[in-house]
Amino acid sequence: MPTRDQVHNFAAGPSPLPGSVLEEAAQGLLNYDDTGMGICELSHRGKEFKAVIEGAEADLRKLLSIPENYTILFSQGGGTGQFSAVVLNLLSAHRLKNPVPAQEFKPPVLDYVLTGSWSSKAYAEAQRLTLPPFPNCPAFAEPRIAASMKSEKWTRLPRKDEYSFSKDAAFVYYCENETINGIEFPHDPSNEAAFPFESVPEGVEIVADYSSSFISRPILNIEKHAIIYAGAQKNLGPSGVTVLIVRNDLLVDTTEASKLGCVPHTPITYEYKILADNKSLYNTPPTFPIYVSALVLKHLIKDKGGLEGLESTNKQKAELLYKTLEAAEKKGKARLVVRDENARSWMNVTFTIEGAAEEEKRFLDGAEKKGFKQLKGHRSVGGIRASIYNAVTLDSVKLLCEYINEFCT
Ligand SMILES: Cc1ncc(COP(=O)(O)O)c(C=O)c1O
Repeated sequence: MPTRDQVHNFAAGPSPLPGSVLEEAAQGLLNYDDTGMGICELSHRGKEFKAVIEGAEADLRKLLSIPENYTILFSQGGGTGQFSAVVLNLLSAHRLKNPVPAQEFKPPVLDYVLTGSWSSKAYAEAQRLTLPPFPNCPAFAEPRIAASMKSEKWTRLPRKDEYSFSKDAAFVYYCENETINGIEFPHDPSNEAAFPFESVPEGVEIVADYSSSFISRPILNIEKHAIIYAGAQKNLGPSGVTVLIVRNDLLVDTTEASKLGCVPHTPITYEYKILADNKSLYNTPPTFPIYVSALVLKHLIKDKGGLEGLESTNKQKAELLYKTLEAAEKKGKARLVVRDENARSWMNVTFTIEGAAEEEKRFLDGAEKKGFKQLKGHRSVGGIRASIYNAVTLDSVKLLCEYINEFCT
C-alpha cells in the first residue's frame, strides 16, 4: 500500500491538497481549537465557525486583491449550480434595470464564448432555463454564441477578430480554463488569443468560470467582471463549496424582478443577495470544505509566497511539462491536444501517446507503477491529462517528465 509521499497525484478534480493542511484538518475534525468537538460538530452560527469563514473571506480578498465593491460568497451546487445561478441573477438584475410593462419587454441576448466542454455545458443550461414558460410566448432571453471553437475540436482559442458580441447583451460568458480540453486564456493582453475585454460593448456584464484556474495566478482585469466563480475542488479545497466574487450592484432582489414578469424565478439558495445579506449563512453551509479551504488559503499565503509565488511555480511546472511533451512530439511519440501554444493551460496538460492503440495503456500502466496517479483523460475525450494544480509540486512534475522522456525514447 503506497504512502502519500510515494504517490504523485495528477487528478483533475477533486485534486490533491497540501499534506500539512490535511494533517491540521484531520486534527480539527476530531478536536477543533481545543473545544473537545470537531469542526463538523460545531454550529455554523457559533463563534468558532464565524472566525473560520470570516478568515477565509479576508484571506481570499487579500490573496486575489479583490476590490471593495465586490462581495465574496460561499455557495453550494458546484460550478454546475453557477451555470444556472448566473443566468437567474443576471436576468433579474437586467429586468430591474428595465422595468417596462411586460408586453413591452424585449428578451435580452446572452453571449456565450465556447472554448470547450464546460462553456458548452453552461450555454446549454442557459438555453434550457430561458425557454418560454408556456407555448406561444416569448423566451426569457436569447442565448447565442459569440465565438466557438467546436469545429476545431477545441484545439485553439478564438482570435480577436473571430468574436461577435451583441451590443445590448445582458452578459458575456467565458470559461477561463477549460479543464477537460486543457485550454486557458493567456494573461498577456497583447496576445492574439487573450480574452478581448476591449471588444465587449460598454455596459455588457462579463461573467467568468474560473473553477480550474482559481488562485493559480492573478485574475486578469478582475474589475471588468460582474461575476467570477470557482468550485473549490481544484486549487482551493475539497468539493462542496463554490466561491463567488460578485460586484455589489448585482446583488439584487430576484423576487422583485419576478414580480415584473418575463424572468425565470430564482431558487432562494441561489440568490446572490440572500447569500450576501446573510454572510453566506442563509442556510447551513458546507462547513468542512470551507474550513479546509480556509486552511489552504493560510498555507498559500504563509508558505507558498502568495499569488506571486504560486504564479511563478505554476509557470515553471507548465513550461517544463510542455517542453518535455514538445520534444516527445518531435520524435513522433506523443501529441499535444491543444495545437496553439498560446492557448495551452497551465493547469491541465492534455496529450495523447502516438502509435498503436495499446501504447497509451502501456504508458498509463507504467505511470501507475511509478506512483503517477489519475492521469487518464476525461471520459468524454480520452487521451492523457496531467493536472498540475497548486498542490502538485515541481518535483512531481520533474519526475513525470523523466518518465515521459524514458517512455518516449
Ligand atoms: C471549468 C469547470 N467549470 C465547471 C465545472 C463543474 O463543476 P462541478 O462539478 O463542481 O459542478 C467543472 C468541473 O470540473 C470545471 O472544471
